Amino acid sequence: MLLRDVEYGDVDAYVRMRCDPVMMAELGGPLPREGMEAKVHRDVQRAAAGTDWTKMIVPDEAEPNVVAGTVTLWPHDADGERISEIGWMVLPEFQGRGLGKQGVRTLLELARDDSRWGLIHAFPATTNAPSNGICRTLGFRLLGEQDVTFAGRVLRTNHWAIDPRADLI
Ligand SMILES: CC(C)(COP(=O)(O)OP(=O)(O)OC[C@H]1O[C@@H](n2cnc3c(N)ncnc32)[C@H](O)[C@@H]1OP(=O)(O)O)[C@@H](O)C(=O)NCCC(=O)NCCS
Repeated sequence: MLLRDVEYGDVDAYVRMRCDPVMMAELGGPLPREGMEAKVHRDVQRAAAGTDWTKMIVPDEAEPNVVAGTVTLWPHDADGERISEIGWMVLPEFQGRGLGKQGVRTLLELARDDSRWGLIHAFPATTNAPSNGICRTLGFRLLGEQDVTFAGRVLRTNHWAIDPRADLI
């Protein structure tokens, strides 16, 4: 497994991840198809500027165009406070192989070696068993439940946080 920066050619992977009702079941339902080129464009620009890290999970380095999912770390304003947030998605045919967890661990290792991110927060839905499993087994601490607005929908989430310099297992 390796992580590479998002590219303009990743629109199809975004559509499969973000416009699919099953993939988005724990995130309030599918997003409209027409916004995806703009979303990829924004993510590529922010990756190039270094403000956000949007990484594609590549299972086999011999096939860099085969993408299993994505893991993203970005600065985010929450209740007037600037926090670092991490999120992830893995396509159905690649799920259950540990790729999500390995991708998240790899990005946290990169963040550990870069002083700007500080404490990193994650907000999986309370019902999202694999995502909460990723948090629990990598060393995140559970801070409690929280309502979070994502793409205009309110989700009931578990609020997890990790200091990758101290807590990463
Ligand atoms: C959540 C998601 C990223 C998990 O990716 P994955 O590659 O299948 O996960 P992994 O194989 O790395 O497994 C992660 C952990 O969850 C556990 N797990 C996996 N599937 C599970 C399931 N259906 N129920 C309970 N636990 C599960 C694994 O055992 C593993 O824990 P372990 O290390 O203690 O064994 C993937 O299911 C997904 O993208 N879902 C749709 C989008 C989404 O919900 N994104 C996350 C928003 S917070």
